[in-house]
Amino acid sequence: MYLEKLSLTDFRSYAQVDLSLEPGVTVLVGSNGIGKTNLMEAIGYLATLSSHRVSTDAPLLRFGTERAMIRAKLVRGEQATVLELEINAARANRGRINRSNPVRARDLLGICQTVLFAPEDLALVKGDPSSRRRFLDELLVSLTPRHAATRSDYDRVLKQRNALLKSARAGKFTAGHEATLDVWDQHMARAGAELLHARLELVDRLQPHLKNAYAQLTDGSKQAAAVYRSTLQDILDDDGGAPRTAIETGDAAAAAPAEDLRLLSVEQLTERYIQAFATARRKELERGISLVGPHRDELELLLGSAPAKGYASHGETWSMCLSLRLASYYVMLDDARTGGSAPILILDDVFAELDVQRRRKLAAIVSGAEQVLVTAAVEADIPVELTGRRVKVIPGGIDEQDCR
Ligand SMILES: Nc1ncnc2c1ncn2[C@@H]1O[C@H](COP(=O)(O)OP(=O)(O)O)[C@@H](O)[C@H]1O
Ligand SMILES: [Mg+2]
Repeated sequence: MYLEKLSLTDFRSYAQVDLSLEPGVTVLVGSNGIGKTNLMEAIGYLATLSSHRVSTDAPLLRFGTERAMIRAKLVRGEQATVLELEINAARANRGRINRSNPVRARDLLGICQTVLFAPEDLALVKGDPSSRRRFLDELLVSLTPRHAATRSDYDRVLKQRNALLKSARAGKFTAGHEATLDVWDQHMARAGAELLHARLELVDRLQPHLKNAYAQLTDGSKQAAAVYRSTLQDILDDDGGAPRTAIETGDAAAAAPAEDLRLLSVEQLTERYIQAFATARRKELERGISLVGPHRDELELLLGSAPAKGYASHGETWSMCLSLRLASYYVMLDDARTGGSAPILILDDVFAELDVQRRRKLAAIVSGAEQVLVTAAVEADIPVELTGRRVKVIPGGIDEQDCR
């Protein structure tokens, strides 16, 4: 798929901007602070309903305004779709598809598919586990939009369950609370099992692409892998000791609890969670929080047999981050072959972060995608391998006079 038009109203620095885009590679060049990332962020938001820079919507609204609009014309094969997304300060965001009546923003998920690379991606390796869980869940929702509901169901139950555990910790736990907790356990087990099942399947799909992408970006001397570590497995295996990590066992496969869980159905995982909640209950009541569930799981990233986090060099860290994004691109592309459409690649300011070798290799890998949008402050950072349209970003948009 590709974006043919993008219009923003009161989004970030833009009161109004209208861009025409083309399939193939477009490099947007403009000085720092001119608004390049704001444009890319808007496209990413249209795809995922979240920003790669901020966790709330407020900064997306132009200072002093109450409502931002993102409008886009998306072309998939022969078919054009007009998407509109209204971001509101005071009420729920809304969308429209082909000028329909307003729909929930969530109904837009999965229509515009993007893979966004940004300097913030370093957090995929260096950040806490929530960055990696978010990576998985965002991709999951992009591929299977109904999982947005799975996520929000889970988050809702978790919040309510935590509130109950917290009140128990405050010493206000009664038999009535215990019965309520049993009910929350059932809900959380079911929602958690669905999320876990989907994540495990996704990690399996990512795995070969991650390995290949990393090999392509580097000299191939180390192998990249991702191992999903579930708190469920830890609690069921718990013999009183701390969970083993790959580094302690020296063997990624032996430390991969996902091996077993992957064979279980959603129903079986639900049963396992109920069992695990029972085991963990006393501890949870003491601590006042939910200790078991996908909200505490980890996607461990490995280079050879060592964890990437804490061990990888700066260059290796970047290669791992890029490989994760490339792997999501390829997973989406696999889906595209079965009736979808290739996602739009967005590379926001990443070339400046990479050494010459990685720049060239990344450029060679991405240059064949259906649409690639690249931003840079300095054109010299863009490797020559990345041929295509060059446009200049000026205050308020693209300089149509200065396109090559
Ligand atoms: N909500 C907002 N309202 C108005 N201006 C904003 C808002 N958020 C960011 N900006 C402005 O946008 C500019 C940064 O744009 P950005 O797209 O990050 O630049 P770059 O071209 O370097 O990627 C800054 O000048 C910042 O003040
Ligand atoms: Mg930027």
